[in-house]
Amino acid sequence: MENFQSPSSYINGLGKVLSSSLSYVQNEIVGRGLKAAVVSTSKQGSGRVVVFDAENNPGLMKKVVAISLASAAAFGSAFYVGYQLAKRRHRFHVREADKNDQIEHILGKFKLSKECLHKVMELLLDEMYKGLDPATHDKADVKMFPTYVRSLPDGTEKGDILALDLGGTNFRVLLINLDSGDIKVKSKVFLIPQSIMTGTGIQLFDHIAKCLAGFMNAEKLIQNNREYPLGFTFSFPCHQKGLASAILANWTKGFDCSGVVGNDVVAMLQEAIERRGDIKVKVLALVNDTVGTLMASAYNDQNTRIGLILGTGSNACYVENLDHVKTWDGDRNDPKQVIINMEWGAFGDNGCLNFLRTDYDIEVDKTSLNPTRQIYEKMMSGMYMGEIVRLIILDLWEKELLFVGHRDHSWSTDYRQALYTKGSFYTKYVSEIETDSGVTYRHTKSVLEQMGLDRPTYDDCVIVQYVCKLVSRRAAQLAAAGLAVLLNHINAPNVTIAVDGSLYRFHPKFKKNMEKAMQMLVHPHIRYQIVLSTDGSGIGAALSAVTAPDYKDYKTNFSF
Ligand code: GLC
Repeated sequence: MENFQSPSSYINGLGKVLSSSLSYVQNEIVGRGLKAAVVSTSKQGSGRVVVFDAENNPGLMKKVVAISLASAAAFGSAFYVGYQLAKRRHRFHVREADKNDQIEHILGKFKLSKECLHKVMELLLDEMYKGLDPATHDKADVKMFPTYVRSLPDGTEKGDILALDLGGTNFRVLLINLDSGDIKVKSKVFLIPQSIMTGTGIQLFDHIAKCLAGFMNAEKLIQNNREYPLGFTFSFPCHQKGLASAILANWTKGFDCSGVVGNDVVAMLQEAIERRGDIKVKVLALVNDTVGTLMASAYNDQNTRIGLILGTGSNACYVENLDHVKTWDGDRNDPKQVIINMEWGAFGDNGCLNFLRTDYDIEVDKTSLNPTRQIYEKMMSGMYMGEIVRLIILDLWEKELLFVGHRDHSWSTDYRQALYTKGSFYTKYVSEIETDSGVTYRHTKSVLEQMGLDRPTYDDCVIVQYVCKLVSRRAAQLAAAGLAVLLNHINAPNVTIAVDGSLYRFHPKFKKNMEKAMQMLVHPHIRYQIVLSTDGSGIGAALSAVTAPDYKDYKTNFSF
């Protein structure tokens, strides 16, 4: 078990390192220097220790300068070593050793071994084959939906186009100009109220059309009775029938609008636009956000083969050889490939990941809008990460292992309400807490204070940060296992992975943790780079739409 150490003991430790360095400097370095000075002055015949005369003794001057530099270096290194020790140790601190053991025991399941990650990889590969085979597809959890996107952009694409990006609590309308590798974007974010997320499909699409009309109005795009082309990023599991036809398989991420599952969402959006009568827009293509992210990155980097989202939800897509896609019902001409929207969030829905789920994961699932679904996603995406942390903190608190000093104080009652409230610990808190590196815990304190915990102690901060680190590291390792399966399966020498999503973008260590795990899981001959594809989902929809056969009928020209 990792050692817990109290702040006073590490400060003592630091003191010891400093004082032993100091005495070394005094005895060995300064002492020798002084001896040299005495020797040198006595050589001059006085026999007394006199003030050293630099001008008359340049050799000695050099020695003194060297000694001073050495002393400074010794002090500096002692301080650095002490600081590093402090940094390493301060993470683990609760005074009583048995409490430390209890905390470690409770959190032990969040530490995934290499063997465990290999098992996850094997299981995922199995599920992928089930999704790609018509004999097993219907029962498969990982649906591996073929998209109708077969060619990747090559950077020569040009055009002006509208895009909609719907996939989380925010929804964006974009105006995109593609000009042979250059991209200009204007966009506006709209909120999707909770009542609409769980209302009827008609209400949802009417709301989207209303936001689109508002944006077009502001951008003066409602003129001359002209029709505008649009690419639609719709980040939910869809069975695509074509580039502009997609049947919703089920809702995820807190959406649950009635009357949409089993229907064509492109047609529903088109109908909502037409119901308004004040805008003329034609939906030319629908893509998942992972596909958009891959496409946007491929516009500038031809090695892009994988698109990954780590945001409210998590999912990946990749370029698959048509020979492997037994469910493909289109032609098998060149290019003999198609982008597969994996919908990997549903991995584990059949119980195959139960061996690594914790009680907290089970609780998060039970209280979600879609129990027993999206098991892999619930262990690693932004929508659930904060909630996992809250449940752990609550458990530690109930077991009297956390906020120990705040138990009986009347002024500290507020925090309990937050502790017991579902969703009160935001995933952004995890990112903020993990930006603290030193011993002051500025962000951690501020988060705990926002939760109502008055004057959090050092112990509280250390433990809460430790919880966040374990939960986010597990998420990064699980994502790494998924990516390693794809890289090993694609087996190309050099692959770019395009990533987007708020969790990945704002968490200070997600990328590093993911790369660290990938190093042990990806075949050593494969080179890969992970790049951020900002705005990818919207831009990708535009890129798919400009390659649609109908696009050439539109001569749009936006001014930016
Ligand atoms: C959910 C959706 C999926 C999307 C992902 C990321 O898993 O089902 O389609 O790509 O979230 O937004």
